[in-house]
Formats: sequence, structure tokens, C-alpha cells
Amino acid sequence: MTEVNTLSAIEVIPTGCALGAEVRGVDFAKPVPDDVRDEIVRIWGEHLVLLFRGLKLDDDQLLATAELFGGQQAAKSRDFFLQAGVKPGENDRVATRPAITIISNVDNFGKAGIASEADRSHGLKWHSDNSYVEVPPTGSLLHAHVVPAKDGGGATSFNNQYLAYENLPDEIKAAIEGKHCVHDDHRNTSAILRPTKKQPKTRYDITGPSHPLVRIHPVTGKRALYLGRHYEWPSSYIVELGDEESEAMLAKLWSAATDDSLMWSHDDWKAGDLLMWDNRCTMHARSPVDHSQARVLHRTLIKGNPVISAWDKPSAAAE
Ligand code: OGA
Ligand code: MN
Repeated sequence: MTEVNTLSAIEVIPTGCALGAEVRGVDFAKPVPDDVRDEIVRIWGEHLVLLFRGLKLDDDQLLATAELFGGQQAAKSRDFFLQAGVKPGENDRVATRPAITIISNVDNFGKAGIASEADRSHGLKWHSDNSYVEVPPTGSLLHAHVVPAKDGGGATSFNNQYLAYENLPDEIKAAIEGKHCVHDDHRNTSAILRPTKKQPKTRYDITGPSHPLVRIHPVTGKRALYLGRHYEWPSSYIVELGDEESEAMLAKLWSAATDDSLMWSHDDWKAGDLLMWDNRCTMHARSPVDHSQARVLHRTLIKGNPVISAWDKPSAAAE
């Protein structure tokens, strides 16, 4: 047997893109000593998204992995379903264990009322998980149980939001200094209105926390653009700007944030893959899945800490 979970067993293979690395020599189904955990945190800080392959983790082992990196956090989407009367275990987004979300296009939990979501093969727009809660999760762990064949879609792409911030023209950096964005919690990641929400008509109908447009990563100390997600107006907006200026600025920021040069795509998912991404400095998206092919992944969120605003520090400190 090859050795795992020792410092010497760890091998890091960067993707060669703006973020992402495969990490070998780690098995979260086995005990992970502190020095190995700390080394993974260091590698994560450097590469932002880590891919571990060939694992076989049950839900408790996946949750234990979240515990290693800061704890478990239940997805807010679960609350929306609970409020709509869905019982734990009845719906794939309301698994029995609160911090597990099943990302599946296999409708074996189908229930009237969520029928519009029964086919979950659609693409997911760029987003940072649960940015629409006050304390968003630090990271996410997504473990593949069943995936389509190579040409079956469902690639998960990531982009580097440190670079997105760094690459902004100076006048935009100056224009967003001190500004915050309300992160719309009305729609889910597939842009479908949540069960308990009404279609918003103005910005005053938008609910969700206000976060700084630029946050400080607590481990690296670097600035990252923090946009969350953005749908057609009225949706997330910049608090300190009027509707038109806010839309114009968000359009510029989103275009910078989603530039192809910042991206890496995991386009060869295999059963047993585990992706671990950092929601504080990356966004992710999914391409549509061929709905004739099953795709089932289990996800858990790594518990977050309050967002550190770049505006709480004198801007000179960030140079
Ligand atoms: C998620 C997510 C991407 C995918 O689980 O948070 O965005 O590839 N999933 O299914
Ligand atoms: Mn997501």
C-alpha cells in the first residue's frame, strides 16, 4: 500500500492555470495528523482549489473532513426548503444530515412544489457559495459519487478573485473603495426563485446581507473581489450607488471577475474526486449536464468566520 497522510507522501501538481492543484498522498477516510492538516491548509492558501482523487468518503467522513478545516455549516438553501414544508430526507437538498447537500440530477426524491427543480442538470452561474448569508462558509467540499461520461457536461470551473481585484484598473479600485454590495438571497444558484420568496420589483425588495466589495483573506492577508452572484436587476446592488451607477459598476466588476485568464475548469470529473475550494477568494460555475446521464455529488460547507472588510484597514496597508 502506498503511504498516505504523511508530509513526505504529499505531492502537489498545479494545474498551470490561475488557480487549482491536484494533491496526492492524502486520504480523508484515514486519520489526518495535525502537521498534514496544516500543510494542506498551506497548499490551499497557495492554490485556492484542491483536487483529491480516488477517495471513497461516506457522508460522515465528508463532514469529518469539514471539521478538520474549521467545522460544518448547513447550507442556507436548506432553511428555505424547511420553511416550505419539506422534511429532512424527503428532498435531495434537505438530506438527513443538516450540513450535507446532495447535488444530483437524479430525481429520486421528487416532490410536488419543487417540480421546477426536479431536473437539476442545468448550468450554474458564477457564484461563491452562500455569500447571501451574514457569515458565508470558508470553503466547500464536493465529492463525486456518480458522474457522466467525459462528454456529458457538468464541468466545474473556478476563477481567482485575488487576481480579479489586482487586475482592476486603478480608477475602478478607487471607485469601489469603501463600497458594499447587498447579496441577493431570492434566487438559487440556477436563478430559480426560492420557495418562500416573491419576485423582487425594486432594490428595496432585495433581501440579503451587505458585504464589502473587497474582502481580506484571513490566512493570506490579500485582497479579493467579493461579488457573490448577480442576476438581472433588481438583484444584488451596490449600497452606496444609485440603481444605474450600481448596475454599470457591477457589469464592469463581473466582467473583470469572470475573465477567462483567471479560470481553471475541472472537466474530467471521476467518481471518487473531492474538490475543496475557498469561497473567500474564488467563484465557481458549472456547465449544463447531459440529463440522460446521472450525476450525483455530495457537498458540505466548511464553517465560515465573519467577513473581514478591506475597508476596515487603511488602504495603504493593502499595497
Ligand atoms: C456547489 C456547486 C457545482 C457542480 O455544489 O456549490 O456549485 O459542479 N456545484 O455541481
Ligand atoms: Mn456552488
